[in-house]
Amino acid sequence: MASYPRFYFPTRIFSGAGSIEQLIAFVGAQDAVFLITDATLVQLGLVKRVTDMLDGHVRALRVYDSVLPDPAIEMVCEATEQAHAFGATAIVCVGGGSVIDAAKSVAMLLAHFPDYQPYALRKRPPEHPSLPCYAIPTTAGTGAEASSAAVLSYNHVKGGIKAETMFLPAVFLDETMMLGLPQSITAETAMDALTHSVESYIGLHRQTILDALNLHVVRLIFRYLPRAYANGADQEARAALTQAACMGGLAMGHSGTGLVHAFSNTMCEEYHDLSHGRSNSIFLPYCTRYNAPAVLDRLADIAQAAGIQTLGLTAEQAGFAAVEAIEQLSDTVNIPKRVTGHTLSAARIAELAENTRTHFITANNPRVPSKEDLIKIIHQAMPL
Ligand SMILES: [Fe+2]
Repeated sequence: MASYPRFYFPTRIFSGAGSIEQLIAFVGAQDAVFLITDATLVQLGLVKRVTDMLDGHVRALRVYDSVLPDPAIEMVCEATEQAHAFGATAIVCVGGGSVIDAAKSVAMLLAHFPDYQPYALRKRPPEHPSLPCYAIPTTAGTGAEASSAAVLSYNHVKGGIKAETMFLPAVFLDETMMLGLPQSITAETAMDALTHSVESYIGLHRQTILDALNLHVVRLIFRYLPRAYANGADQEARAALTQAACMGGLAMGHSGTGLVHAFSNTMCEEYHDLSHGRSNSIFLPYCTRYNAPAVLDRLADIAQAAGIQTLGLTAEQAGFAAVEAIEQLSDTVNIPKRVTGHTLSAARIAELAENTRTHFITANNPRVPSKEDLIKIIHQAMPL
């Protein structure tokens, strides 16, 4: 049977300063809320804003703050056991993509308790609707709040669980939760969101509905990232990036990504301290330059959305103008040009290139790369 583009999104999105207060309409006196977050957000006082709201409003509240970046399946299973022992009826998550992905997974696994292991290990796709899980993002990047997938780490190898039953019932995009983000995180997470939209827009699984989302993500990020980077307290810029990240996640969740994300997955296996956002930020300019000859017209649209006047330019000039705009934005927000850390042998570089070439994400890339193409890109991005 032919396959047709399909768009489905059941999540309610509340936006704006103070919108986290809408959460209390979704949980009440009958609920035992298991709140998933990380220790830093507890220290910063962001979690207290939410627990103050829920204390006394719900029957019971427990905070789990042990989520680490690139959540490991072992941690997710531990949280699932604790949530079950607590008698959780709803999950609330406060955090970035790692926290949201962990929470989405816990909510799914609880619905399959006690025999949840095959679902955790991706031996079976989710069968039952997840427990209600509500997200309050504290970074503007992954868009995890708007996708039905969770990316977990299996012995440092990333693996995704995806099912329409894992879409969240409601998310709260409150920019006041992001005002204190450090500059580097602001830059890397926004560049991750930009990567989602660029890869979704030029990818083989593009859809017209997603095009509209993706071009506006590009517009918002080019317009507002420099502002949020220069002044973290710029609430209007924070709000715009929060919306952009969510829209980028929504688009990417439907289309998939491409070469940049394939690289990031393989490189993060080699460089355990390299964050997803930083890796994508570094690889995006190189990969876009590589992809450009195959998608000049699409990149011309991206150039326009980035604010570049393309009238009178040839297709090639307009397409490469987008690449230059991305490079300039990266420079503006001080994204490094290379990964830092240990150097790699030629044999290891060849192996990583091959792993990237055969990664399932690469199948959506508009250009089919050879191993040699990828070795060249790795040389551009790797430590000297
Ligand atoms: Fe990403």
